Parts: sequence; structure tokens; C-alpha cells
Amino acid sequence: MMNDFTRLMLDHCPEMLFLVNPVSLKIEIANATAVKILGYDAEELLGFTITEVESALPDVFYWDEVRNGQYLEVEDQESQYRRRNGDLLDVRKSIQLVEHGGVSMLFVRTVTTQSEHIAQDALASTLSQLRATLESTSNGILVIDWRGKIDSMNRLFGKMWAIPEDYMYWQDDAKIMEFLALNVQESELFRDRLRAIVDTSETLDLLHHIDGRVFEMSSRPQYLAVQIIGRVFGFQDVTLHIQAELALREARDRLEEGVLARTADLYAVNETLKQEKESQATLIKKLEETQNQLLQSERMASIGQLAAGVAHEINNPVGFVNSNLGSLQRYVTDLLHLLSTYEQTEESMAGPVLQAIRQVKEDIDIVFLRTDVTQLLAESLDGIKRVTRIVQDLKSFSHVDEAELQWADLEAGLESTLRVVWNELKYKAEVVKEFAGIVRIECFPFQLNQVFMNLLINASHALETRGTITVRTGQDETQVWVEVADTGKGIPRHVLPRIFDPFFTTKPVGQGTGLGLSLSYAIVQKHHGRIDVQSEVGKGSTFRVTLPIRESGAPAAGAPQMA
Ligand SMILES: Nc1ncnc2c1ncn2[C@@H]1O[C@H](COP(=O)(O)OP(=O)(O)OP(=O)(O)O)[C@@H](O)[C@H]1O
Ligand SMILES: [Mg+2]
Repeated sequence: MMNDFTRLMLDHCPEMLFLVNPVSLKIEIANATAVKILGYDAEELLGFTITEVESALPDVFYWDEVRNGQYLEVEDQESQYRRRNGDLLDVRKSIQLVEHGGVSMLFVRTVTTQSEHIAQDALASTLSQLRATLESTSNGILVIDWRGKIDSMNRLFGKMWAIPEDYMYWQDDAKIMEFLALNVQESELFRDRLRAIVDTSETLDLLHHIDGRVFEMSSRPQYLAVQIIGRVFGFQDVTLHIQAELALREARDRLEEGVLARTADLYAVNETLKQEKESQATLIKKLEETQNQLLQSERMASIGQLAAGVAHEINNPVGFVNSNLGSLQRYVTDLLHLLSTYEQTEESMAGPVLQAIRQVKEDIDIVFLRTDVTQLLAESLDGIKRVTRIVQDLKSFSHVDEAELQWADLEAGLESTLRVVWNELKYKAEVVKEFAGIVRIECFPFQLNQVFMNLLINASHALETRGTITVRTGQDETQVWVEVADTGKGIPRHVLPRIFDPFFTTKPVGQGTGLGLSLSYAIVQKHHGRIDVQSEVGKGSTFRVTLPIRESGAPAAGAPQMA
């Protein structure tokens, strides 16, 4: 009846296929799919009537009518088939009337719908799970489809945004979205985000609700395979979080401020300490200065004492040598007078006596002796006078510890100082005196002599070859000045500010102590006067000491001027 290929085709058809006799309702042919799905043996199934398989009430009615000659065709009708183990199988069937060689047969094609049900059930379960998840998350969720329409949202979303009931009811998407945008400060950004649906990027923004809450909005595209079909927006209320963070930051700021304040305090304390240290250092420096000046004065004083002692000791012998020389000069004059008187008697003398006298005269070269002896005596007297004057100078110069202010003639002081330092100056300098004849001033004259001596010696040291030292004086109504100018090497600019510092010297070790000017400065200051310096390298320097005429009520000294 049927060849093997036809049979093969029938058996591999995914539908169950039956050929049913409309009179006996017997199953004439069943394919392998039917055998397999229903679980009967092939022979067993061919012994059945179709109603033994189709047992739902409508089927029984249908087949009854078939038996009575009403062959109705059926298209895709739901039914239930009984399997061998008694299970009922949901199926869909179609029935067609087929004719072959004058014989009518009913052709039944059936598919099971069980798997469809299972898929639908699974889908429903997934959907409900999804729904439950959507509702149980603590984020508000809004899904917008690719057309920009609201696809879905969870209840929390509606609640957190307090979307008006009627918007929700009418599902007025445009109104809802505008309502959302108007409720945040970042309206424009929010609108942009809601518009940019077909965008692959993920976004994260902070939105400030006008009621003060802060939402974190994240969004990501929704894909179906590779196609973007919409965008899912998640909203999280991070107000508390932000508040906590703010509080934390404030606390941290306060802490930092505290630390800063503390640091500033420490800094201030440190500054004070530093200042104290500095003032201590200045104090120590001042002490050192004073001590050095004291040392120098002491040194000068002891030199002075020594000089005074020596002067005193020399004074006596010089005194008597001086007076003896005076007497000697008179005696010699007398003796020479006597000699010339004797000479007048020479004519009357006897030959041999005269002879002897002439011999002696010749031997002692009386002619020379006569002139030379007076000259020698005159020179010696002059010498001794000079010694007397030097001793006098030494005595007056060494008078360092005098405490009384005196009215003194500075020009006379300068003269005496020049004599003391003459040895130092005479080989190097021509000394020019330009004295104006200044008035006497109230001062400690011997201390001022020290100042002049320092200036004169510095000037002579500054002369590298023979040069000139000019000593000038001058005055106005209230003050006098003494200037010591040299044509020496001058003082470089960078050295100038330091020359009054104790121990500052440019001289080789052993030659200068660097105390001369500092001591001089101190002495002039004590006199309420000032020392000004003008110097040019290679041309020379001029030191000017200006002193008030009257000490009482004199103005305070200014700082030295240097040029
Ligand atoms: N007339 C001058 N010309 C050039 N330089 C001078 C002159 N007077 C002072 N100075 C500079 O100032 C420095 C300090 O002088 P100061 O008299 O205080 O010390 P000193 O002469 O070096 O040593 P001393 O203690 O023996 O006087 C000198 O070393 C020198 O460099
Ligand atoms: Mg000096």
C-alpha cells in the first residue's frame, strides 16, 4: 500500500499522523512520532479506535457524528490525548477528509502543546520574578523604550518622585518626564539624559531635588541581542549618605582648622623664640663689643700709665741735664772768653813756652774746637728741649682716666697727637695742616686725642706710596669738626659698612686689631658727636669727626654717614 520512502517520511514528520476509518473509527495507520509520544506499541495502536486516544468529551461527540456520516473537517483544535501510562497530553489537531480509490478516510495531524505551555509558564515565572525584583530593590527604576516612551517603572520610583496620581492614571509620558525634570535643579541635564536613549554609554549623575533630597541617577542601555531597545534609569536617594559625608567633611575641616590654628600657635611661639634668640644674639654681640672696647680702653690706659711712668722717670734726668747743659753753655762761654784773654798775652811769652802752647793748640785744633763746642752745646740744648716736649706730650696723652669734662683746644690736641705719631708718618706722608682756629670745646681732650691718633695711623696705613694727609678743622655756631683726609687706597663699597665693627680689619694678622675705629666711634658717641666717612677706591678717604661745642644739652649722635 505504501512504499518504504513514504513510510520514512511519515515516521520523521514531527506531527503525530493518523489515518482513521470513518465507519469503524479504527486507526488504520499511525506514524512513529505518534507511537513514540503516546507510548503504545505500533500493533497495539493499530487495534485502537481513535476515541480510545482522543477521550475529551467534545472529541467523543465529534467522532460519533463522523460515524453517523458527518465528516467535518477540523483546523487546529485543542484537545487531549491519552497516553499509555494514563497521562493526558495537551495537543492541537487538524482533521481532513481524504479519498482514495472510492474510499473515504480521515487524516488526523496532531501536535503536542505541552512544551509551549512550559515555555509560557517559564516566561510568566521569569516575568513575575523580574517584577518582584523590580519592586524589592531599594532603587527607583524607570525604563524608557527606544521611542522615548515610558515602558515601565517600579512603585518606589513613583513614590520617591511623588508623581501625581492623574499623570500615572493617564500614563501621560511627556507630562511625567517634564514633572521629573522640573523637580530637580539639574533640569536641563535630566532632560538630556531622558532624551539620549539610543546611546551605548552608561551615565552616573547627582540630581538635587528641589525639596532638598539628593538622588543618584544611573542609566544604562537595554539591549535585545545587539540592538538597543531602550534605557533603564536607576534612582537612589543618597541624601543621608551625602549629609553624612558633608558632616564628615565638616568635621574633617574643623579638625584641619584646629590643626592649622595649633600650627599657627606653634609657629608664633617659634617666632617669638627666634626673636628672643636674635635679641639675645644682639645682646651678646653688644656685650662683646662693650667688652672689647673696655679691653681696648684698658689697653690704652695701661699703655698710658706706662708712658706716664716712663715720662715721669725721664722727666727728672732730662730736667737736670737740661739745666746742667744751660750752665755748661754759660761756663764754656766764660772759659772761651778767658782763653781769648790769655791769648792776648802770648806775644810776651818766652819762646819755649809759646812753642809748647802752639803745639797743644795745633794738636787740639783750637780753631775748630772753638766754633764746634758752642754748636754742640746749642744742638744738645735743642735736643734736650725736644726730649722735654715729647715727655710732656706723652704725659698729656697718657692722661686717659681723667673724668672731668674740660674746655680744650682741639687744634693743640691735634698738634700734640701729630708729634706722638710723627715717627709713623714722617716717611710716608706729607702732613698738611689746614686749621681754621676753632673755639675750645667742652670734652675729654685726651680721649679725643686717641680718636685723632687712630685716624692718623689709619690714614698713614692707607698710603701705599708716599702721599698726603690733610688735617682740617672748622666750625659753625654749635659744633666743630676735625677732618683727616688721605690720598690712600680708599675703602671698597662692600667693606664700608663694617669698618666700625669691633675686630673688623683688612690688615694682616698681627698688624691690626680692628678696634681703632670701633673705639673711636664709641668715644665720639660719648661726646654726642658723629663720624662721617667719604671714600673712593684709589683716590683716598676722608674721616670727619663732628662734635658739639657744648656737651650739656647736646643733641644725641646720629649714625655714621658713609659715602
Ligand atoms: N683711611 C683709611 N683708608 C682705607 N681703609 C681704612 C681707613 N681707615 C680704616 N680703614 C679700614 O677699616 C678697617 C678698620 O679700621 P680700624 O682702625 O678699626 O682697625 P685696623 O686699623 O685694621 O686695626 P687697629 O685696631 O690697629 O686700628 C681697616 O682694617 C681698614 O680696612
Ligand atoms: Mg686702625
